[in-house]
Amino acid sequence: MKNTTSKSTNHRIEFSDSRSIPMIENNSVDMVVTSPPYPMIEMWDELFSRMNPEIRDALEQCNGQQAFELMNKELDSVWEEVARVVKESGFVCINIGDATRKIGKEFQLYSNHSRITSKFISLGFQPLPIALWKKSTNAPNKFMGSGMLPAGAYITLEHEYILVFRKGGKRVFKTDDSKKQRNQSAFFWEERNKWFSDSWDLKGVKQATNDKNVRERNAAYPFDLPYRLINMYSVKGDVVLDPFLGTGTSTFAAIASERNSIGVEYDVNFSSIIKNGLKDFSKSVNAMITKRLEDHISFCKKYQSEKGPLKYENVNFGFPVMTKQEINLDLNHISKIISSDISNILVEYQPIKFISHLIESASAQYEDSYNDSEEQLSLFGCK
Ligand SMILES: C[S@@+](CC[C@H](N)C(=O)[O-])C[C@H]1O[C@@H](n2cnc3c(N)ncnc32)[C@H](O)[C@@H]1O
Repeated sequence: MKNTTSKSTNHRIEFSDSRSIPMIENNSVDMVVTSPPYPMIEMWDELFSRMNPEIRDALEQCNGQQAFELMNKELDSVWEEVARVVKESGFVCINIGDATRKIGKEFQLYSNHSRITSKFISLGFQPLPIALWKKSTNAPNKFMGSGMLPAGAYITLEHEYILVFRKGGKRVFKTDDSKKQRNQSAFFWEERNKWFSDSWDLKGVKQATNDKNVRERNAAYPFDLPYRLINMYSVKGDVVLDPFLGTGTSTFAAIASERNSIGVEYDVNFSSIIKNGLKDFSKSVNAMITKRLEDHISFCKKYQSEKGPLKYENVNFGFPVMTKQEINLDLNHISKIISSDISNILVEYQPIKFISHLIESASAQYEDSYNDSEEQLSLFGCK
């Protein structure tokens, strides 16, 4: 798939086994964002055992450590394919949870995040700082072990990992076009402060599926998770791959971020869920994009009333921004999704209308506070 610089993107969905993806060319993907089935979490035992019957034997023989290793070996085949298709300097972001489990008489931790990290290091990737995703939940904590008596109780796992790897060194943007693309893909200063924190507080999504053809729990991650990662580690027009697509969340996040995408999913029954998800998608994404702008405008108003003017102005919207890097930041709305063939979805975008009143009020406040500060500066003999 070619990078697109125009205001349209392409999205391919393949129902296939990602342990072997010859249809994806070497060095053709800019970024991977995904969440695999978690080894040693019971809901995935059956799937892993079908991939390799020795896994069922190991579980039946209460050999937890061997089952863990064999399950991760199945994932290794996918990670090897990922390493082949990702471009030099491309990113791989993996959402994974560790597992705690009693096999026979022995309770122990199965550390998926460290096993996967070791694999990516052996594949020549650089591990980069990770985030911990603490899922907000209303359910009370389940404590495990000997209750109030010491030495036999276990800490409850309340977070999952967002692992980040890079294939080689920093990405370089050499041509004028690629520099422009990067500048347009900027995010707001105040978003940067939240997104690049190592502690993410995102609500989990409803796990029950109404579709009787797919398993009861869909194991989907929230839209904001791939959306944030895609915006942090790729630029518009890039190609994003999810080799464990499930309900299609990564494809939706790539569409919303003006990136192209490829999704691979084993279970063809997910196609109806993905098709349904596309139905009202433009409406909800456009509302989410408008909200990003509204949140920025609220941020500007608050900042200006408390601390004074912001120095720069965005060329596409005319509102103030904190840094020079946000001057060319651009966001668009979806105008059309052509998805008659789910394996090849075309998305078109258009400039955002209907927020000019908000922008005007932020800019008016910007000019007022800018004039005030100019007066103040000249009063202090600074100008
Ligand atoms: C944790 S779920 C991913 C959920 C996804 N992030 C979402 O938001 O819906 C893992 C998915 O990987 C799929 N899967 C497992 N092994 C696979 C393989 N070898 N090839 C392709 N898909 C696979 C499963 O069917 C499942 O839908």
